[in-house]
Amino acid sequence: MKILVTGGAGFIGSNFLNLFVPRYKNYHFINLDKLTYAANPLNLTELESLPNYTFVHGDITDYAWLENVFDNYSPELVVHFAAESHVDRSIIGPEAFVHVNVNGTFNLLEVCRKKWEKMGGKLFLHISTDEVYGSLGQTGYFTENMPYFPSSPYSASKASADHFVRAYYVTYGLPAIVSNCSNNYGPYQFPEKLIPLIILNALSGKQLPVYGKGDNVRDWLYVDDHCRALWELTQKGKLGETYNIGGNNEWKNIEIVEEICRLLAEETGKDKDEYLNLIAFVEDRPGHDKRYAIDASKIKNETEWEPLEDFSTGLRKTIRWYLENQEWVEKVKTGEYLQWMELNYNHRSRLN
Ligand code: NAD
Ligand code: TYD
Repeated sequence: MKILVTGGAGFIGSNFLNLFVPRYKNYHFINLDKLTYAANPLNLTELESLPNYTFVHGDITDYAWLENVFDNYSPELVVHFAAESHVDRSIIGPEAFVHVNVNGTFNLLEVCRKKWEKMGGKLFLHISTDEVYGSLGQTGYFTENMPYFPSSPYSASKASADHFVRAYYVTYGLPAIVSNCSNNYGPYQFPEKLIPLIILNALSGKQLPVYGKGDNVRDWLYVDDHCRALWELTQKGKLGETYNIGGNNEWKNIEIVEEICRLLAEETGKDKDEYLNLIAFVEDRPGHDKRYAIDASKIKNETEWEPLEDFSTGLRKTIRWYLENQEWVEKVKTGEYLQWMELNYNHRSRLN
């Protein structure tokens, strides 16, 4: 079986490949990635010598090139991770999000529709986010039949792509599943997202920026748990369905930042106040969703999946990974990263 993974050099995609390429030798994994700022070839070094792994460098917004990839490799299964994935970047520059997340997904759907008519295809698994549902109040959970209310250009672009995937199932019978997952954390995450940003800033003695009051709530899932859920869906998911994936693990942002400071102090032997004193409440993100929380009972009932990682052990493992992978960290802190940090943080006034 040939499986095309888009965006496999990014955070979740590379964890997916590192977990499953060595394990499933009867699958040939073709990783199609543009290698944007969010990708890192170091994520994939363990896979390079494996015979059931191929890397193809290219852009999902280039339709003619996608056709060539399908002609060359004839994949029957597509796991679509490739996207622009950061809410703050989407606020500063929304256009790339429409281009990649909407048009790129549309291209992939089109190429599958046309090529699979002749060669047959098994599944287009579209990886999406719980942010498409908008914000929850203090109670309640996201279920699969909730209406979409995206708040940011990122979530609006993902919502639009989700609708296209479902429309292709309904209209053309394209075998497709949409999965909507909560916030992931773990190794290889680009340090623009909260958890790695806080870890790396704390280790460099830099300010730990917490938006607003730090009372926004996210439902955190260890990345391997997300990847295992996706694999279950490739095997047992029902075509045309949507599956929510989440850890039942809600935390306020400020609680996470404080927990990272505490764990970092234990790992480095420093006083935790050295880290805690770096916390700075800064001007909030516009349109900042208050709370996300997933009801994952559907995937739990229909497959064998359940989350395995506990948050405190997962967070400790993640911190150790960033401490032990200095080469990766140095590679990521390029000029582009420093420019991003300036662009996103320099204009935010401090609130405390
Ligand atoms: P990421 O930003 O770390 O990686 C994205 C990958 O896509 C990178 O390797 C990048 O090079 C590639 N890419 C971007 N544009 C491309 C293009 N035009 N052509 C080919 N490749 C391109 O993202 P992530 O955090 O790994 O997220 C992966 C997917 O999961 C995304 O679709 C995201 O919306 C979704 N998701 C993420 C989370 C999360 O917490 N990170 C949660 C739920 C869903
Ligand atoms: P993030 O990791 O960007 O994921 P998402 O916006 O997709 O949920 O942010 C997680 C939470 O942390 C979100 O409520 C915004 C907040 N946050 C901060 O407080 N400070 C930061 O510097 C960042 C990047 C995020």
